[in-house]
Amino acid sequence: ARMSAHDNETPAEALFRLNATMMASDEFQSMTGAPTVLGTGSVPSPLMLLGEQPGEQEDAMGQPFVGPAGQVLDEALMLAGIERDQLYVTNTLKHYKFRRQGSARLHLVPTLVDITRYLPWLEQEIAIVSPVLIVALGKVAARALLSKEIAVEQMRGQMLERRDGRLVVPAYHPSYILRTPDAAMKKTRFQRLVKDLAMAARIAN
Ligand code: URA
Repeated sequence: ARMSAHDNETPAEALFRLNATMMASDEFQSMTGAPTVLGTGSVPSPLMLLGEQPGEQEDAMGQPFVGPAGQVLDEALMLAGIERDQLYVTNTLKHYKFRRQGSARLHLVPTLVDITRYLPWLEQEIAIVSPVLIVALGKVAARALLSKEIAVEQMRGQMLERRDGRLVVPAYHPSYILRTPDAAMKKTRFQRLVKDLAMAARIAN
């Protein structure tokens, strides 16, 4: 086979090139001027976590999962015995999608059109990071990874397989845990996230 100019690239270099191409592409400009929030962590990595989209804090800092949801995630990872540098973390949408209400910005749930627009980039990102297992945090991530709607409440902690052979474990989104009104249920959901992350790390490694 003919060698391409990129055949000698390391995965980290390939990801850098993908991100540069992605940020320069027309389809990829955020509608609001929000900065692009790229994935972070080890490349390649056997374990990948996929979120939904950056929130206020992530948008301000340009890093995934650094706000309130990120604190929940960090605590769950710590309790599951996983170091954040043992994995790769990214989002389905690389920009914060919101509507304005007065001076506030309110999170909008991504549509299938939004997910589909980002999907080619996400698939290339996955191919480069090359995870054995991807934890889908919430239903938007699961939709992007599995091309179908699933009920996370029923499917969390189960191991599903993608067409490319990579495993997907659906888990609660940390923001869903934060929004749980009942304290006992909130604790239960948090413990389930810890359990699902621990299982995912065991299997990936
Ligand atoms: N929620 C997400 O899905 N991703 C983030 O990066 C932060 C909050």
